[in-house]
Amino acid sequence: MAMQTKISALLSEVESFTASSLHEVEEFRVKLFGKKGEVTLLFDEFKQVSGEVKRELGKKINELKSKAQDRVSELRQALEASPSPTLLLDTSRPGSADSVGTRHPIASARSEILNIFRQLGFTVAEGPEIEDDRHVFGALNFPPEHPARDMQDTFFIEKREGDDNPVLLRTHTSSIQVRAMESQQPPIRIVCPGRVFRNEAISARAHCMFHQVEGLYVDHSVSFADLKQTLLYFAKELFGANVEIRLRPSFFPFTEPSAEMDVSCSICGGKGCNICKGTGWLEVSGCGMVDPSVLDACKIDSQKYSGFAFGMGVERIAMLKYQARDLRLYFENDVRFLRQFTAVV
Ligand code: PHE
Repeated sequence: MAMQTKISALLSEVESFTASSLHEVEEFRVKLFGKKGEVTLLFDEFKQVSGEVKRELGKKINELKSKAQDRVSELRQALEASPSPTLLLDTSRPGSADSVGTRHPIASARSEILNIFRQLGFTVAEGPEIEDDRHVFGALNFPPEHPARDMQDTFFIEKREGDDNPVLLRTHTSSIQVRAMESQQPPIRIVCPGRVFRNEAISARAHCMFHQVEGLYVDHSVSFADLKQTLLYFAKELFGANVEIRLRPSFFPFTEPSAEMDVSCSICGGKGCNICKGTGWLEVSGCGMVDPSVLDACKIDSQKYSGFAFGMGVERIAMLKYQARDLRLYFENDVRFLRQFTAVV
């Protein structure tokens, strides 16, 4: 093809060229100005031209070059200024729904427990998870060789030879009660929620970390009858008005007398089922009258004051209320499990 014709063909191609994406513009630029581009080749060819036509042709080629360059930058600017059509807002598309989270069943059970005691005038007290021996064991009347202090139960953070107050992870939230009794005089009426840690192998029934709510009431002439009445109120609020409680003798170093509270099984109504293992009763809480030596260790006059304490596992209450009986489910945060609690507040 004669150069002249080629130039005019390219010129009309440039004038009519449009593009809908920057990619297409770039392709067009390479087609004309790339190493083997049509305009590049024309310039190579032009080097061989001589004589009269050279001037005329030179003018035409340069005109083509600048028109093509203008067209490329014009299209580029236009496309950069407006987003590509696929990104434009499509008002007919259905909206994407926000997913609403749920409260974790442990958080729900915890606040349910706390709210019941709040109704009775208890206030919530919290304390550190990293504690020392004195607050977890010493002030609570645990003898120095008590097995709970053993490495098998307690996670020690630092235990040096001869150190009588090592740093450790609290094994119960009774440590918060010690801190409260050390820092204030009766009346004390607190509930103490929190995470606790015990060195146990993880299984469906045990975990090295779980949650407790413990309670403490110290005042003039607090009696075992007050404890019983408080726990009965709690059980009825939590499991329903028909629930019954029973107290079985037990032992804790920091309470005397001590008891375990059972509630009648809300699942079978006391007839016996696999949840209550056929007994009709569910164990819910340890409790007792604060041992006078604990009050004295915290500088509260045991001649003047008496108190009761209780403590329960939040996971245990959640298991009874929601009937998901593998403890691990509560810690794995599997959304398929958690989504089932949308209705629980
Ligand atoms: N601290 C005890 C525990 O962790 C529970 C408890 C608290 C028992 C208060 C009696 C009184 O097992």
